[in-house]
Amino acid sequence: MCGIVGYIGEQQAFPILIKGLHRLEYRGYDSAGVSLINSKGELSVYKAKGKVVNLEEGTKDKDTTGTIGIAHTRWATHGEPNATNAHPHFSQSKNLSLVHNGIIENYKSLRAEMEKNGMTFCSETDTEVLVQLVEYMMNTHKCDLYTAVQLALKNVVGAYAIAILEKSHPDQLVCARKGSPLIIGVGKSDNGRAEFYVGSDATPIIEYTNQVIYLQDEEIAIMDRTGRLDITNLANVKQTPQLVTLQMNLDQLEKGGFPHFMLKEIWEQPNALRTCIRGRVNMVDKDVLLSGIIDHKDKFINCRRIIICACGTSWHSALIGKYFIEEAAKIPVEVEYASEFRYRNPVINPDDIVIAVSQSGETADTLAAIQLAKEKGAFLYGICNVIGSSIPRATDSGTYLHVGPEIGVASTKAFTGQVITLGLLGLAIAKVKKTLSDDIFHMLVEELEQIPDKMQWTLEHNKDIAQFAQMFTYCKNFIYLGRGYNYPVALEGALKLKEISYIHAEGYPAAEMKHGPIALIDEEMPVVVIAPKRGMYEKVVSNIQEIKSRKGKIISVVTEGDTVVRGMSDYSFVIPDTRDCFVPLLAVIPLQLLSYYVAIAKGRNVDQPRNLAKSVTVE
Ligand code: F6R
Repeated sequence: MCGIVGYIGEQQAFPILIKGLHRLEYRGYDSAGVSLINSKGELSVYKAKGKVVNLEEGTKDKDTTGTIGIAHTRWATHGEPNATNAHPHFSQSKNLSLVHNGIIENYKSLRAEMEKNGMTFCSETDTEVLVQLVEYMMNTHKCDLYTAVQLALKNVVGAYAIAILEKSHPDQLVCARKGSPLIIGVGKSDNGRAEFYVGSDATPIIEYTNQVIYLQDEEIAIMDRTGRLDITNLANVKQTPQLVTLQMNLDQLEKGGFPHFMLKEIWEQPNALRTCIRGRVNMVDKDVLLSGIIDHKDKFINCRRIIICACGTSWHSALIGKYFIEEAAKIPVEVEYASEFRYRNPVINPDDIVIAVSQSGETADTLAAIQLAKEKGAFLYGICNVIGSSIPRATDSGTYLHVGPEIGVASTKAFTGQVITLGLLGLAIAKVKKTLSDDIFHMLVEELEQIPDKMQWTLEHNKDIAQFAQMFTYCKNFIYLGRGYNYPVALEGALKLKEISYIHAEGYPAAEMKHGPIALIDEEMPVVVIAPKRGMYEKVVSNIQEIKSRKGKIISVVTEGDTVVRGMSDYSFVIPDTRDCFVPLLAVIPLQLLSYYVAIAKGRNVDQPRNLAKSVTVE
């Protein structure tokens, strides 16, 4: 949800900023902009509607020199996506330029106040209000930029990560955050002098340094080329920066020969899940070790209820987690849309555990949901992918997915990473609560350990989806059906198709069809049915018959060797056999591939679908 990059040092800033914007483009791609101070002390701002390439194109004949700069890729919140509303924004005197990720909720009243005092505005954005406010503070309080930023931010309601340049002080870069992520990279240029990088996440920084500082909420930082890095909070109390070494490498941020990040990430799943379970599954003792549970054993033993808060795809994996935790650990689990939970005054007891599931660890609604749960005294557990992100820092304990950076906007490997992590969690709780017999526990651990190999098999045996998907480009609607553990897979399959191909799709519990949605079925309607030869197989067969007799086209996900559902289907995808609770990890793969190839056949930009952004750091 908007990406910010900044640089101050000895190198030319522009190429670093542009490369950084490309890496952050998954966060938003409505417009992009850059601001630089050149060696003559001139402060420039260049912006373009659309993707970063448009900005590159538009700046070819411009002076883009300078060793300090800030840049931004936007996902519009206030004001339509055009060059005027793109960041960076100038202050009225053009002495300041600023980039911002977040939302300033009281921007209208702040703007009205400043307009009364004769200030004029060029754009419709809340961000321009912020940069004007900083200048207003500098003028009215006759103070320096740093103090003015502190004063301005004290008047602001909302979320922000900002970086600011000041024309009259070209040797310093100021940034701040509250509610939106911001990381400072600490590096050294070739001649040994200090340089600093700023990023919404680590992806624009890792190429230059692995030494970073995660700025905390309400902290303001000032950096210069002498190596000065001062951080204070809004109350002007000096903070001690905590230097962290990033565990990430550049290859993880490249496409590695795949045409799209999404396809790369789909194929990465076997290895990603091997990494996820490494050290957590001990095959000698057939045991599960999750330090997040071991360290808080009593909390889980005494817990009366678990509430899982999440959004989108993470909500779907949470639903699978609910089924498994209830089955294995015998604790009631509720799954909540974080956006609903945070506003409906939910009943939360001190013996409840609230789990936040989030790939990015930055989703504003999920973060707000756990903040609410914390106020009500619940124990908080985070299941996130991005290390050092806001949710893991706000929770009492947790487990990282360790599936590597997910760049494609449509979540794939994070989904399966979440499902298997929730599986580990269910087993780890079952162990401390002794709710499973040793035999069943060991059998589940053994089966879980085989999942990455079975995923690889699934990928290898579904290569023809690329051809097959072509046939569905004309479709206007799809229905996805599943029962039990596969109902959330149906929801996830439908979401994947919607978000990248823009074809309308709905997921339903298969048995719900006859309560209304069956009216939609005719010969034009493809119905994707997840029908493994397990648990409710016979019932799903009956559901398929109901659809077939209304002339619906059946696309099924079947277990290897199944002939019955295969025979009833127009097309089938095959998966290896596994326990019911792990079927989602395999069944989702053909559905990911189906949506990918349908979207490709329709000419969609699968890595950057329209109107979407990877991490939704605003409401
Ligand atoms: C869909 C997708 C989104 C995210 C949702 C939550 O493919 O990626 O639905 O799952 O925005 O994001 P996180 O998991 O980062 O909290």
